[in-house]
Amino acid sequence: MQSIPDRNFDSLVTPTRLHRSLYTDPDIFELEMERIWGEAWIYIGHESQIPEPGDYFTTNINHKMPVVMIRAKDHTIHVLHNRCGHKGAKVVESRSGHVRGALRCAYHGWTYRFDGSLQKVPNEKGYEGTGIDLSDPCYSMQPLAQTSSYRGFVFATLSQSAPDLETWMGGAKACFDNLCDRAPEGEVEVAGGVLRYEHACNWKFILENLNDTMHPMVVHESIVKAAESYIATLPPEAAEQRREAEIIPPFGASYEKFEDSGITGFPFGHHYDGGKTSIHSGYAVDPDYYNAMVAAYGKERSEDILAFNTHNVLFYPSLTIKCAVQNIRVVRPISVDKFVVESWSFRLKGAPESMLQRTLLYSRLINSAMGMVGPDDLEVYRRAQEGLASSASEWVEFHRQYGKDLTQTDRIVGGGTSDLDMRTQYRAWKAYMEKSPQGHTRHA
Ligand code: FES
Ligand SMILES: [Fe+2]
Repeated sequence: MQSIPDRNFDSLVTPTRLHRSLYTDPDIFELEMERIWGEAWIYIGHESQIPEPGDYFTTNINHKMPVVMIRAKDHTIHVLHNRCGHKGAKVVESRSGHVRGALRCAYHGWTYRFDGSLQKVPNEKGYEGTGIDLSDPCYSMQPLAQTSSYRGFVFATLSQSAPDLETWMGGAKACFDNLCDRAPEGEVEVAGGVLRYEHACNWKFILENLNDTMHPMVVHESIVKAAESYIATLPPEAAEQRREAEIIPPFGASYEKFEDSGITGFPFGHHYDGGKTSIHSGYAVDPDYYNAMVAAYGKERSEDILAFNTHNVLFYPSLTIKCAVQNIRVVRPISVDKFVVESWSFRLKGAPESMLQRTLLYSRLINSAMGMVGPDDLEVYRRAQEGLASSASEWVEFHRQYGKDLTQTDRIVGGGTSDLDMRTQYRAWKAYMEKSPQGHTRHA
C-alpha cells in the first residue's frame, strides 16, 4: 500500500496520472472526508423543500455527519448539526417533515428553537451550582460554520475559512442562473419525489464520468441502437412518442460532435461540457413554453437563455446540475467503495406542465436505477472499482489533449473529448488535500 503523504501529493497525482489508491485506500478516503468534504461548500437542499417555518430536511454533509436544514419563524434558513447538545443523540430522525413549536430530543427532552439555540432543559434545577453554563453554544444544536444560498440552492460548509459561496462558484455560477432563468418567473422549485440509489464504487467515479465524452457512444451503444430502431417504427402522427424517444439517441453522438461541445473548467474543481451545443440542444421547444418565455423576457433574451446549452455542470465535490433538463444529482460518499446519488427534479415556475413532465421523464429514463442510461454507467464504475484491485499497474491515466488546455481570465477551456475535466478536478483535489488555497488557482 502506498504511504499517504501529509502535504505534498505529487507522488499520487501527477498532471496526467492518478495513483489507483485514490479509489481503493480507506485511509485516503478518510483524509478526503476531512480535507475536501470538510473544506468545500456542500449542497444541502433547495429552499422550496422547506417553504414554511418548522419545515425541515435532513441529510449528511459527508459520509456520516448528520445535519438538518430548517426554516425558522422569521423565514430564515438554518443548517444545523443534527446533534443534541446534551449527550449527543441525533435530534431529527426523519428525512423531511414539519415540527411545531420547537425541536425536541427523543432521549431526555431538551428542546431547541429553529435557529438551534437551546430553549428548555427538563428539571433544570438539577444543574444549579454545578458550574454548567447552558447558554454556552456547545449545549445548543450548533449551526454549520457557514450557510449560504444562491437562487434557492442551499449550501453549507464545515470550514470557517472557505471563501464566500459566490466566489467559490466562480464562473460556474452562470449555470445556476441559466437553470433558474429558464423559468418564466425566474425561479425553480423541487417537484416530484427523489430517486436515491447506491453505487458500489468510489464516489469520484461519477464526477469523472459527467464530462467524459469518450464513453457515451461505447457504454450506451446498445440503448441508443434500440431507441433508434424504435423511432424508425413510429408513424408520423406519433409525435408524443417521438418527443420522448428523442432523449436517447444524442448519447450516441460522434466523437466530432462531442469534441465540438468543449469543456470549461474553473477553480475549486467545477466544470461543465457544452455551452453553445450539448446533447440537449436538439430538443424540440414546446411552443407554449417558448411563448411564456418571450412574454417574460422578450424574444432576444429568451433565445439567449435557451441557447446556453450545457450538458452536466459539476460543483465539486457534491453536486451536478442539468440546466436544460432541470434536474440535479447530489453525491454523498459512504465509504471508499460506496456512495449514494440522489436525483431531484425541478419545476420551472411559470412554465407549462409539459416542461415538468419532460424533466420527470428524463429523470426516469436516464437517472433512475431502473432507467435506460444511468445503469450502464453504474455497471462500468463497478467494473473499474474491481479492476483497480489489480496490481498490474499502479496508475490511471488522463492524458487526452494534455498541454492543449487554454487558460482564460477565470477559466480553462478545451476540447470536448479532452481530459480537461479530470485535470480540473484533480487540481482541486490536490489543493484541498495539500491544504493549499493558492493551489486552486495555480494552472497546471
Ligand atoms: S441526549 Fe438529547 S436530551 Fe439527552
Ligand atoms: Fe454515461
